[in-house]
Amino acid sequence: MDIEKYLSSYGRQEGKTFLVTGASSGLGLEAAKHLARLGGNVLLAARNEERLRVAVEKLKAINTKGDYRYFLLDQSDAASIEAFVKALEGEKIDAVIYNAGIYFPRKGEKGLTFKTNAVGTYLLSRKLLALYPKARHVYVGSIMHFKPGKKGFENALARAGRQREYALSKEAIRMIFHLDLEAGYDCVYVHPGISKTSIIRSFAPVIKRLANGFLYLFVHHPVQASLVEVVGAIEDRAKGQYVYPRGLFQISGFPKMKKALAYNQEEAEDLRGFLERQSA
Ligand SMILES: NC(=O)c1ccc[n+]([C@@H]2O[C@H](COP(=O)([O-])OP(=O)(O)OC[C@H]3O[C@@H](n4cnc5c(N)ncnc54)[C@H](OP(=O)(O)O)[C@@H]3O)[C@@H](O)[C@H]2O)c1
Repeated sequence: MDIEKYLSSYGRQEGKTFLVTGASSGLGLEAAKHLARLGGNVLLAARNEERLRVAVEKLKAINTKGDYRYFLLDQSDAASIEAFVKALEGEKIDAVIYNAGIYFPRKGEKGLTFKTNAVGTYLLSRKLLALYPKARHVYVGSIMHFKPGKKGFENALARAGRQREYALSKEAIRMIFHLDLEAGYDCVYVHPGISKTSIIRSFAPVIKRLANGFLYLFVHHPVQASLVEVVGAIEDRAKGQYVYPRGLFQISGFPKMKKALAYNQEEAEDLRGFLERQSA
């Protein structure tokens, strides 16, 4: 099926504003481009100003009538999150896509993946849920998520290597989605399958070559992989659902929805306590 045709079935998005974190590259940028094609306005957030500037120009080239602007955000830094939310003052936002994330940062940066992906998403979403309680909030997880076990997140993280830390951070995002859904917010959990983006930029060169070969074989292009984020943001029926690729092992394909799975409340409460301590 043609991607443009697929998306057009969800209807035009003129007059709506979407906030996409991590929109300077990869899936966030592709999601922002899709939203621009549908007529929506997009606010982009990330750390790298040059990449953000280029991204905004790309959106303006797609839709000359849309409102496209960028904001600086370092999701691993509480002060930056605070400043970012302040800078949003007065903005009307219909949906937020919590897409910013890293995987496997360099040696010696233990904890940064969880801090950026889980603690940062938690901190930011507490503030944006308060500011935009009626908006759609879309949490971006991964096929690669891992439960912490009986001893909880803090313990699991202390023992985790870099791969496991990423998988725990993505399980934490799934739990954040469940907690917020339970609290009555309009939330969606999505995972994009596996796609060749810059996410593996911190891998050692030889691993990067192997990983790129693997990603090439699966050819789930970011243009298609990002569709779950867009559907999560614009489809009314996605509220409270998981949205993921419909292909074999959920690795690739057009989006599919299913009712959110059951979750372990004790695990979620343990996580909430841990995230609160990390955010203090
Ligand atoms: N690619 C996949 O196969 C895959 C699979 C499952 C889940 N995901 C998830 O999809 C999301 C997007 O990843 P991607 O594959 O598109 O990778 P990517 O191309 O590396 O994009 C990551 C984005 O996050 C931003 N970012 C990184 N650290 C940040 C921070 N501290 N504060 C604010 N923004 C930050 C980056 O921009 P700056 O560097 O400018 O800040 C970039 O725009 C991630 O959450 C990832 O875990 C990806």
